[in-house]
Amino acid sequence: MSRKLAIDLGTSTIQIYTEGKGVILNEPSVIAVDKYLNKATLVGREAAELFEREPEGMEVVRPIRDGVISRFNHTVVMLKRFLKKSYGRTLLPPEAVIAVPSIVTDVEENAVRDAAVSAGLKEPFLIDEPVAAAIGAGIDVTSDRGHMIVDIGGGTTDIAVICSGGAVLSSSVRVAGDEMTAAIIKYVRNKYSLLIGERTAEEAKIAIGSVWRRNDVQTITVTGKNLKTRAPLLIELTSYDMTEALLEPVTRLIEEICAVIEKTPPELVSDIAENGIVMTGGGCQIYGLDKMISSVTGLPVRVADDPTLCVVIGAGKADSAGLSPVRHKYRK
Ligand SMILES: Nc1ncnc2c1ncn2[C@@H]1O[C@H](COP(=O)(O)OP(=O)(O)OP(=O)(O)O)[C@@H](O)[C@H]1O
Ligand SMILES: [Mg+2]
Repeated sequence: MSRKLAIDLGTSTIQIYTEGKGVILNEPSVIAVDKYLNKATLVGREAAELFEREPEGMEVVRPIRDGVISRFNHTVVMLKRFLKKSYGRTLLPPEAVIAVPSIVTDVEENAVRDAAVSAGLKEPFLIDEPVAAAIGAGIDVTSDRGHMIVDIGGGTTDIAVICSGGAVLSSSVRVAGDEMTAAIIKYVRNKYSLLIGERTAEEAKIAIGSVWRRNDVQTITVTGKNLKTRAPLLIELTSYDMTEALLEPVTRLIEEICAVIEKTPPELVSDIAENGIVMTGGGCQIYGLDKMISSVTGLPVRVADDPTLCVVIGAGKADSAGLSPVRHKYRK
């Protein structure tokens, strides 16, 4: 296996890729810690199963929040376990390229480097997430034509205009998949006096979430806790409910896209009009989001193939895409 790994340390998911083998790990970014022993018991999919069930004496956490490390030690342990599971043990520390949000402070960036080294990697190269997403979406980032990438993850949406190998303009907002899930919880509480958990809301969002009229009304049954009686209650949610619930976060997201377009030089806007806005990340798969963004901006919009894998695949292909490690944010 290639000794060079690409890693997407996401708020929701962690992925590891190597050239030749492709994606060798794709797991939820979750760790379950034994509170008394202060020791990690489970990571990834197994830990995510315990989310909101929180067995006695266990803390289940997402150590990465809004695309940056919020719990350093937990991130190191989680990464170490994932590396062992996907890559195995090695004599020499593997090299890695790690994708980081376009807007990070030096402290946040250093935390990523330190976590990688503590988890057993060589000091990593860092790549700007939208640049990686663009490469993963098949865009020639080294060309002098402008491209717009909107990467909607769990914690953040990164919007960037890419040209000649780097982001000319970028913006990162904390409105993404998690905010959409939170908006569904709030909507169901207000409209039906029902308290539903994060997992239930996320499942409903993935199953029937939509922001555009669909020909067939979709429904899903969810269980929660009646706020008045405190008893468990089962209700049916429709895709209309989703559209109403998602209106507020999606509006904020589109406002931010419009703000970036506003600041983009006219030549690049005409390139984008030709090439279309390209969306990546798990959150871009909400039904009709592409149509809605297109109708507001007047620009064509397309969802990349395998949108959740674009960042990690693009980070893994940065070398062959012609990015030099010293250019822009692809630096050591
Ligand atoms: N089919 C789907 N429809 C709508 N949302 C989805 C779908 N699949 C995944 N999501 C949402 O996508 C989000 C996760 O996306 P992704 O894996 O790209 O995030 P991440 O890279 O871990 O986060 P970040 O980039 O913010 O650090 C979650 O909020 C999840 O609920
Ligand atoms: Mg991401």
